[in-house]
Amino acid sequence: MKEKKLMKKGKRLDGRGKEDLRDITIEAGKLKRADGSAYLEWGGNKIIAAVYGPRECFPRHQRSPYKARLDYYYRLAPFSVEDRANPKPSRRGIEISKVSAEALSDVVFLEYFPNTTIDVYTVVLQAQAGTRCAALTAASVALADAGIPMKGLMPSCAAGKIEGEVVLDLSKDEDQCGEADLPIAYLPNKDEITLMQMDGDMTPKEYEEAVDLAVEGCMKVYEIQKKALKEKYRQFNEGGE
Ligand code: CDP
Repeated sequence: MKEKKLMKKGKRLDGRGKEDLRDITIEAGKLKRADGSAYLEWGGNKIIAAVYGPRECFPRHQRSPYKARLDYYYRLAPFSVEDRANPKPSRRGIEISKVSAEALSDVVFLEYFPNTTIDVYTVVLQAQAGTRCAALTAASVALADAGIPMKGLMPSCAAGKIEGEVVLDLSKDEDQCGEADLPIAYLPNKDEITLMQMDGDMTPKEYEEAVDLAVEGCMKVYEIQKKALKEKYRQFNEGGE
């Protein structure tokens, strides 16, 4: 772990308090050829999410007569990080895609669409820590934009630990030099945590504090997701594209 001072007079280096998110904007319906899409900026992260489907599942042996298959694709664009990211699927990308697909499979009513596939693509155009949460947040808006029935919108957000303090939404420096990172995804409608991972060390008390803080963060992200969808349909009703 690199040594770096991350807090100054109770504030973080970017001026945030412990419970503050970075700035987030989400726009729904950015891509014409996808069934649903969303573009998200979260701090320095820039991410596009696109949903295709439900459509007939090929190859046939991957079909289920009981439910749709949900495939999630997470990729860092080669130019999204300081060193060029190799466009080949990495272990990290495969892991993020797997846990994200599992989280969304708990939320989408897959049983409504037997024998089909729903493809969810997320591409990180610019990365600056917290991209798995940001990508899932955008993917959830894109699924809603595609009109796919879900138990609810699923926001995602991380809490972590820096200099012994539990804080919300780690920045790049905090991610690299901090003590722990705990990304979650949360379903407000059901009060369920659908994804949880953790890097680093926390005491049980810090862990509980971090989970509560990450859930609070998700609730703030949830409001921004809803606003993005309402804005798209407001423009649509006014005759915009
Ligand atoms: O992005 P997230 O925090 O979900 O995942 P991570 O594996 O903890 O990566 C933290 C950050 O490291 C990413 O958001 C990127 O900014 C950076 N990173 C990078 O610079 N090059 C990579 N190949 C992977 C990650």
